[in-house]
Amino acid sequence: MPDTKIIPIATGTDSKEIVQNNLDYTLFSWSKQKGIDPIAFKYGDGVYLYDYDGKRYIDFSSGLMNVNIGHGNQRVTEAVVKQMQEVSYVTPNCATKVRGELGKKLASVTPDGLNKTLFTVCGATAIENAIKLARLYTGRHKILTRYQSYHGASYGAMSAGGDPRKLPADSQQAPNFIHFDIPYLYRWEYGEENLLKESINHLERVIAFEGPQNIAAIMLEGESGSSGCLKYPAGYLKQVREICNKHGILFIADEVMSGFGRTGKWFGVENHHVIPDMIATAKGITSGYVPLGALIVSDKIAAQYDDNVLWLGLTYSAHPVSCAAALEVLKIYEDENLVENAVMMGKYVEEQVEKLKKKHPSIGDFRNTGLLGCIELVKNQKTKEPMAPFNAKPDEMMVMNKVAAKLKELGMYTFVRWNYIFVAPPLIVTKEQVDEGLAMISEAVSIADGYTAP
Ligand SMILES: Cc1ncc(COP(=O)(O)O)c(C=O)c1O
Repeated sequence: MPDTKIIPIATGTDSKEIVQNNLDYTLFSWSKQKGIDPIAFKYGDGVYLYDYDGKRYIDFSSGLMNVNIGHGNQRVTEAVVKQMQEVSYVTPNCATKVRGELGKKLASVTPDGLNKTLFTVCGATAIENAIKLARLYTGRHKILTRYQSYHGASYGAMSAGGDPRKLPADSQQAPNFIHFDIPYLYRWEYGEENLLKESINHLERVIAFEGPQNIAAIMLEGESGSSGCLKYPAGYLKQVREICNKHGILFIADEVMSGFGRTGKWFGVENHHVIPDMIATAKGITSGYVPLGALIVSDKIAAQYDDNVLWLGLTYSAHPVSCAAALEVLKIYEDENLVENAVMMGKYVEEQVEKLKKKHPSIGDFRNTGLLGCIELVKNQKTKEPMAPFNAKPDEMMVMNKVAAKLKELGMYTFVRWNYIFVAPPLIVTKEQVDEGLAMISEAVSIADGYTAP
């Protein structure tokens, strides 16, 4: 018997072989492994991705809302190569030029009073460290979060979120995460002012029941993302900030998806005029070119660890290659005015989707901030019955699957979930590209129109 396994791996560039190798030897997240049909992308350029057969796809979700600068930007490649030519890895207790420069650059774009960063490897590790630090710093144990949020798939982050993907591992949830609800305006019958009042009253009741002296932090997304871009009622985050101040509770902003220009500001919370105690972020920090996360803390929290040990650490904290990529990506945001472009293109998208709403009876709602948007399809615009329910079972996805298949056929890559179609192209997008993408969405949504009831 030979002591190495003989595996007949296909090595060609034929797309079928490439996909088959992926299916035979790798596992795909959040999926039943049989029956999936992944696209093999060969390269990316700007807002487009190209498969091995030369078919072009417009990327209307910026990957997973992370490729904010668009695909294939060679400035990042060059920065990464340069760093690797110098040194690829040093331990996190060493200093590097890029680590210091990136920390300084981040401090120049973060809200006032948040100036020190612990670098992590992804969003979930930023969240885990935020939770851990909040507990260490306050000496309290409970973390309060919104049901309709996603904070990552590691145990703490998953338990913190309310996304139904955590339900299959329900019995293994980490303790001391308490959830609260913020109903969303589209289906709230009593107006936004009343929604704000009810949501705040509910949060205050939860805090009283749980004991404010036990609550380390309230963690909220800077803007809601994969749960459906469910907006906070106006003024909500400001009141949360006041409640936190009153009880000595920390306010953690999860800016993993909403950071780095995605919502038309450097960080989503800036749309709400609040300053959190910590920002946990990732995705757009490198635009997904290499993995990196960051936990940015207030000066007050940072000062606590001048004379106390910071009990946090990761082998890949402040990885030099990731820091080099991030530093270049931040320069690209500035050089190409991408935060400003997100505002302009976001407004344009809103105007155009408004027109689509009039044309398509299946479009119920569009919620958008900057370029973080989500179209919600319904069976009836008056009753607002969703085209597929929250946490839809496979047989409830029949219509939405047809819509998603049409988008793919037309050459669009985007995130379709339950009755949501996400509209979150790279921040470099132009009006013409918005028109191109929305024309595809319009064609695909016509399928759903056929399933609306008068
Ligand atoms: C708001 C938010 N927080 C945290 C995460 C987790 O990030 P990661 O997948 O990099 O661990 C995500 C990922 O989508 C997210 O959207």
